[in-house]
Amino acid sequence: MAIIVCPKCEKKHNVNLDAIKGNAISGKNIAARCKACGHKFPVELDTLFDQGNEHTQKSRPAIRKICVTLSKGGVGKTTTSVNLSAGLALAGHKVLLVDTDTQGQSSYILGQKPKAGLTELLTKELSPEECIIQARKNLWLLSGGKSLAGVKRIIDRKNFGAEWTLTEALKDLDYRYDYVIIDTAPGWDQLIVNVLFYATEVLVPVALEVMPLQGLAEFMKSLGSIQKYRKEIKLKYIVPTFLDTRVKGPETIYSQLKKLYPEYICIPIRYSESLSEAPSYGKSIFEFAPGSTASVDYRELVKKVTQDNTALL
Ligand SMILES: Nc1ncnc2c1ncn2[C@@H]1O[C@H](COP(=O)(O)OP(=O)(O)OP(=O)(O)O)[C@@H](O)[C@H]1O
Ligand SMILES: [Mg+2]
Repeated sequence: MAIIVCPKCEKKHNVNLDAIKGNAISGKNIAARCKACGHKFPVELDTLFDQGNEHTQKSRPAIRKICVTLSKGGVGKTTTSVNLSAGLALAGHKVLLVDTDTQGQSSYILGQKPKAGLTELLTKELSPEECIIQARKNLWLLSGGKSLAGVKRIIDRKNFGAEWTLTEALKDLDYRYDYVIIDTAPGWDQLIVNVLFYATEVLVPVALEVMPLQGLAEFMKSLGSIQKYRKEIKLKYIVPTFLDTRVKGPETIYSQLKKLYPEYICIPIRYSESLSEAPSYGKSIFEFAPGSTASVDYRELVKKVTQDNTALL
């Protein structure tokens, strides 16, 4: 048995591999029609048979779950989550962007108006297929928004296992993606704890505009308290943001960060008007201003995260 997922409605279908072996042997590819939405799409037999083969399944690179977080507000978390996701998708990876913020900015930036999102997935009101929308080629979105405030109260009232609520909700669907990128709200609450129990890598954007070191140190402490219970979660990237090269202050803070955290520090994202303009057009930086410095900087971040210098995007 293997599973085919309809690229249009994302419905999962079981496939009996024995029944289509004949096509595989003669080297043909097949077309499938989704029983749920009627969409016809090509199926690569090699991939399908690889799925049925346990050995090959094990050799598939593990899904990467990266959360973008820092308690301090306005440091570029959402901008980084959206543009990193868009860049990874352009580089050919399948990406799920999860917005866990009540501000619901990610869908706005991507020009989407989803009817449902993370709230309905967490409350099990709707199926994952109804909650996740495809925002671009290779890029899917599980949107946030005001209704998440109610979910937080539900999580708070749980007596047992509250911190695993998000992990439970995502466990049967994240296998479809190469990357799950999670944007978080500012502050510290039960939903952020849930994110840190789900993700395995942490990316921290640090604004170089105002003294950021104290906020970063506080966050490291909070992360440490989670790591006592969940060893898998690791700080991987510190991304300096709002680098204004015309003045000295930000460069000085950047040098301090490099000295303090050499193993995590990434190339900074420079201050760029394009980044604040792009959201009102519903576009990622790669669509809105592909030649801008911000586009160059986010491309560098994609290369760093994928460890692929030749990534085309
Ligand atoms: N490098 C940059 N240059 C210029 N403007 C930027 C840059 N990065 C982000 N911005 C703008 O700064 C504002 C705050 O950024 P963003 O919303 O990404 O921060 P945030 O950390 O997600 O905020 P919050 O904590 O409220 O969720 C936005 O208007 C965004 O467009
Ligand atoms: Mg945000």
